[in-house]
Parts: sequence; structure tokens; C-alpha cells
Amino acid sequence: MILPRLKPDPIPPIDPVPEYLVTGRRAELYAQTKATLQVPWMGVITMALSSYETYYETLWRAVGPMMETGEAVAACARLRVEIEAEVAALLPPPMGDRLAALGYAPREVQGIREAVEVFSHGNFPYTLIVTLSRLALEADRVPAPAPGTLFTGRHAPDVDVPFVLMEDHHADAPLRAIYADIRDRLGLPFVNTDYRALGRWPSCFAEMWGALAPHVQTPEYEAMVARLHHRFVEEAMALPNPFGATVKDLRDAATSAPPGEILEVTRLFQWLLPGLCTNVAFFRAQLQA
Ligand code: 2OP
Repeated sequence: MILPRLKPDPIPPIDPVPEYLVTGRRAELYAQTKATLQVPWMGVITMALSSYETYYETLWRAVGPMMETGEAVAACARLRVEIEAEVAALLPPPMGDRLAALGYAPREVQGIREAVEVFSHGNFPYTLIVTLSRLALEADRVPAPAPGTLFTGRHAPDVDVPFVLMEDHHADAPLRAIYADIRDRLGLPFVNTDYRALGRWPSCFAEMWGALAPHVQTPEYEAMVARLHHRFVEEAMALPNPFGATVKDLRDAATSAPPGEILEVTRLFQWLLPGLCTNVAFFRAQLQA
């Protein structure tokens, strides 16, 4: 197994500058990343890695062209279909009737579905990127040089979701308690963007997270996430490498930070993102009926 699933211990500090504060070259890197991935948000993963500007410039030069290929788009679609099928085994309870009883109109439920759709699409390229970073820094592996085929269409969902995040400092006590439960059950010092986007509907998100939470860290859930982790490793290694990016490129760039620091941040997100993809698939399933 070239890359075992591994949670760094201790959790490394990260410096994810939010989009409403980022400036300069780092803001340009945020914009490039979002445009290539066709996503409306800069993932916490790439926010954290872009705090190491030399490394992120090199990583993006290496993986950006990979993510522009039809092969990458197809890999993300395969991985998404697989986890959305697998997560059904956790029996996500349908939310439709409950949301109606809470007073949500059909169009409001559609807005929540569209927000989930954005993450159901966007988390997969982010997870491929961090898997590629870990493969290079830890396993001395990058995909074999190959041109791939430039994807020229739109692969993102055709939805226009107003991107509103309910940050911890915006939230009232009950929602802050849910965010605290998320951090506690996932063993993370922060709340990923997906949860803060769904937190804008607190009465709905409380029940969505409430249904998922008991599964987190159970053997069945962990096995599901581990399977997805290994599939990400397989798909990352099979991507085209249009400009022949090398392990040396990335490892040399990583020396711009204290030894091991970038690898530990990479490991953190490469550990958490398959679980996040699984959690979002569970939320999506809850909203299907
Ligand atoms: C995050 O931004 C990538 O959705 C993930 O936390």
C-alpha cells in the first residue's frame, strides 16, 4: 500500500486566510484555483497550503494542468458516484417531510440541495490535489508524464448558490454547539467550509448532522472512508501529468518551510477530506426525498 490512511498527531497548526481577508499574490492563487476547479470557494486545504507561497506556487504549477484534463473530471465523477452509492449503507434518513414540518418551502429545500451539490462536486478535486501533494512528499510518487485531454466544457453543477458562510462568530449558542460537536467527533480544530455553508440553515443542519454524527468513527463508517481514501490514491496516480511535474519539484519547494511542516499539513487534509466527501454524500442522500 503506497499511502496508508494516516492522521497526523499532533494536528499541525494551519493558517487558512479566509477569502474575505486574502490579498496580493495569494488572492490571485485563490482565484486561479477556484476558476480551474470550477468551484465557488477556496478550500481550507488550499488556503492552508497557500500560506506556504513557494510550495503552493509549485504545487499549483504541477497539479493545475492535471486538474484541467478530462481524465481528472472523469476521476472525480467516478469517485463521487462510488461514495454516494456506498453511503446508502448508513441509511441516511430522508429529510423532506421533516423540513416541510419545520416550515421550509420546496424552493428553500432546493436551495439547500444546490449548496450540497456544490460541495458534492468540489470536494473531489480538492481531495485529489492534496493526495497528489502527499504522494510526492511522502511516497516519492507523481503520475507518469502524459498529456491527457484538456477539458473545455463546464463540469460544475449548473446552480447559482449565494455563498454565505455561518462562521463560528456569527452563530448562536445551539449552532456553536453543533460546530463544537463536529470538531470533537472529527478530531479537528476547525469546521470545514461545507458545514459552515449548511450552518446558514441551522434548524435543518442540526438534524442533518444529528443523523450523521452517530456513524462517525464507527467501524463501518471508518472502513467506508478508508476505501474511498485508497480509491483517491489510485485515481491520483492514474492522472495525466501534462507538464511532467516531478517529485523533486515538490520536495524542493517544500524545503521553503521548516522540515516536515508542509507534509504534516498535507497529511491532515489528506486524512480528513475522504471523510468530508463521505459526510457530504450522506447529507445529499438525506435531501433526496
Ligand atoms: C473545505 O473547504 C475543501 O470543502 C473543504 O473545508
